[in-house]
Amino acid sequence: MTETGAAKRRVCLVTGGTSGIGRAFVDALHRRGDDVRFCARSPDAVAAVEAALPGSTGYVCDVTDDVALAAMTDLIAIDAGRLDLLVANAGRLVEMNFNAAPLDPALIEADIALNLVSPILTINRCLPLLLRGEHSAIVLTGSGFGWSPTARAPLYSGAKAGVRMFAKALGAQLAPAGVTVTELVPPPVDTPAVAHRNVAKLSPEHVVAATLRGVERGRRAVFPGHARFLPLGLRLVPQLIERMTLKS
Ligand SMILES: NC(=O)c1ccc[n+]([C@@H]2O[C@H](COP(=O)([O-])OP(=O)(O)OC[C@H]3O[C@@H](n4cnc5c(N)ncnc54)[C@H](OP(=O)(O)O)[C@@H]3O)[C@@H](O)[C@H]2O)c1
Repeated sequence: MTETGAAKRRVCLVTGGTSGIGRAFVDALHRRGDDVRFCARSPDAVAAVEAALPGSTGYVCDVTDDVALAAMTDLIAIDAGRLDLLVANAGRLVEMNFNAAPLDPALIEADIALNLVSPILTINRCLPLLLRGEHSAIVLTGSGFGWSPTARAPLYSGAKAGVRMFAKALGAQLAPAGVTVTELVPPPVDTPAVAHRNVAKLSPEHVVAATLRGVERGRRAVFPGHARFLPLGLRLVPQLIERMTLKS
């Protein structure tokens, strides 16, 4: 059956697709029959996911490197000719204590490069393909700490607040072209990155299911689990919410 006869197979790219939330996106999109593509830096991890999910395509790509991003998107252009969904998800919380300043400037720059600049570079390279897609959508993985910060990671909180504003403005700019932009605002999620944290965590599968529903409905932001209290809480009791997140 042709693509027009059947439900169209969506071409999707997930950055940071070998672990945690990104891997759950890759699994869910693969399960629903999409043409799922993903990237990460570890060649072994990329190969392992490709082997586990026949028909998926992995790329070894560091999303902080624009040359690598350009090479990956060139391959997708040759292979698929378009993108229908981009999940700009790669990121990492690194705790930083500015009481110990001066910190290594390279650490500071690397943190901003990954958590703020890389999703922007990724979207910049993917947009020509997304503009060729149908009902194209971008998901940016933000964080509850981008809405209300944590004292243990000021830089991460600032970077994710930047992601939040970027997502909002970009969504407005791309709306006339029919590309929707959704910010995913997760609470703590049960992934290897936060295995050391003894707090209540949501499953990555729950987060992904809520996000894909939100994308279908054209939501500008998705707040899975108890993150759903954030927007109203910040309007009604902002100081209380901030006191809680600063300590978490
Ligand atoms: N887990 C939580 O509680 C939580 C809460 C709020 C927000 N988030 C956000 O959710 C996103 C995913 O977090 P997670 O907990 O699922 O992380 P994770 O389990 O550590 O997975 C991170 C993924 O990103 C890849 N990655 C890291 N740096 C990369 C780079 N420079 N280029 C390409 N890929 C890279 C990793 O593979 P390689 O190392 O092989 O590159 C891995 O596939 C992040 O943006 C994070 O800030 C997480």
